[in-house]
Amino acid sequence: MPKKSVKAITVRSLINFVLVGALAIMVITAVGFRWVSHMIIKDKAIDISKVVIAGLTSHMKAGIMDSRDYFLSEILSLEEVRSMRVIRGPYVAAQFGYGKEQEQAQDALATSVFATGEPRFIERELAKQPYIRAIIPYVATSKGSLNCIMCHIVPENTVLGAVDIEIDLTAYRNLALKIIAAILFLSVVFIALIIINTFGTIDKYIAQPLGSLISNAREAYIHKDNLNPEAYESAEFETVAKEFNLLNTEILANQEELKLMNRQLINLNDEIEDTLRETVFTMGIIEEKRSKETRNHTLRVTKYSNLMATALELSVKDIDLITSASPLHDVGKIGIPDAILLKPGKLTAEEYEIMKNHTEIGHAMLEHSQRDILKAAAIIAQQHHEKWDGSGYPQGLKGEEIHIFGRIVAVADVFDALVSSRVYKQSWSTEDIIECFKKESGRHFDPALVEIFLTYSNKFKEIYENNK
Ligand SMILES: [Fe+2]
Ligand SMILES: [Fe+2]
Repeated sequence: MPKKSVKAITVRSLINFVLVGALAIMVITAVGFRWVSHMIIKDKAIDISKVVIAGLTSHMKAGIMDSRDYFLSEILSLEEVRSMRVIRGPYVAAQFGYGKEQEQAQDALATSVFATGEPRFIERELAKQPYIRAIIPYVATSKGSLNCIMCHIVPENTVLGAVDIEIDLTAYRNLALKIIAAILFLSVVFIALIIINTFGTIDKYIAQPLGSLISNAREAYIHKDNLNPEAYESAEFETVAKEFNLLNTEILANQEELKLMNRQLINLNDEIEDTLRETVFTMGIIEEKRSKETRNHTLRVTKYSNLMATALELSVKDIDLITSASPLHDVGKIGIPDAILLKPGKLTAEEYEIMKNHTEIGHAMLEHSQRDILKAAAIIAQQHHEKWDGSGYPQGLKGEEIHIFGRIVAVADVFDALVSSRVYKQSWSTEDIIECFKKESGRHFDPALVEIFLTYSNKFKEIYENNK
């Protein structure tokens, strides 16, 4: 799953944060507004009831109680007053009668006010046209300008009646909804502004410097250079640039050290391989001396083998292996008794069989090695007397069953034997050798190698002449 960008993470967190904040503000505003508007409405109801009572008292004092409906209808026409009635209490009813129908208590709520003397408020907010109903009692008092006791024969503080009034809440509710809508709108605008501003800040102070830091760091690493911490505006990026420089310096120092160590290792390895090659060659010389082979036979076989492997376009590794390993082709002769190995005359059939063992002896001496050179030498020691037509020894391998190293050394070994003069034989001429090799192509020798020999016969001769 792809990871979120810094922008996406920031926006999500900001939106959550601001939305919760806006929601909290809206709830607080709504609750506060409701509380304040209800207080205002209740105060308004109390004030209107006071005006009504004062008005009625003045009508009474002036003896124009019969005209009170004009006054009351004016009060009713006030904005937000949905309905209003003045209810006579039991004492007033007993003294002046129950009055008009609208002056009688309509429900238990109104009656309850006479019992307690406390105002009652009923809120109807969920109605289509919301309102608050207030039932405000008026109590007999002899204090102040409204001396009730003058007209009403009742004890002080007796509830004379009540003003039952309904005040419309619609205007307040609509105002509250408008305020909440405004808060919502401002919150959305606020979030949008914060997001735009945050995106700008992230781009300027994070995304752009980060992009430039990455590309500059890559360049600095390639060119073994340092970053310029001053180029970054924020403290954090300056610190990262400084840390990068420290790390880069350390890496470069380590690289130099590693290069040096690597060079030392390569030198050491070369030395080990050279030592092994020299040791192998020396072993070949030791065998050559013991067998009283023609002088430099080992060196020449090595050179012919190298010539053929190169002409055959073997891999560099294989050319190196055959060149290094061919000196050991006859190392098994170490295990052949002197009486046979150094016998001046022709070997008997039995002696010849013993002599043939030098291939398996050489192979057995070398086969356990884990070194590539010695493993190649084991193959050569075993297979250099095999023949292409399968008539060779010790295994009678045929054609490409014989390893290419074995086939090459076979040509090299025979050529050197023919071209060298021995006590019992003259050196063969190049022409005779060429004839012989042509005849033996596909019999003793690999035809492809005979072709190479024919192409490079002069070079073979040259190697012999230069290393006699
Ligand atoms: Fe041999
Ligand atoms: Fe040989």
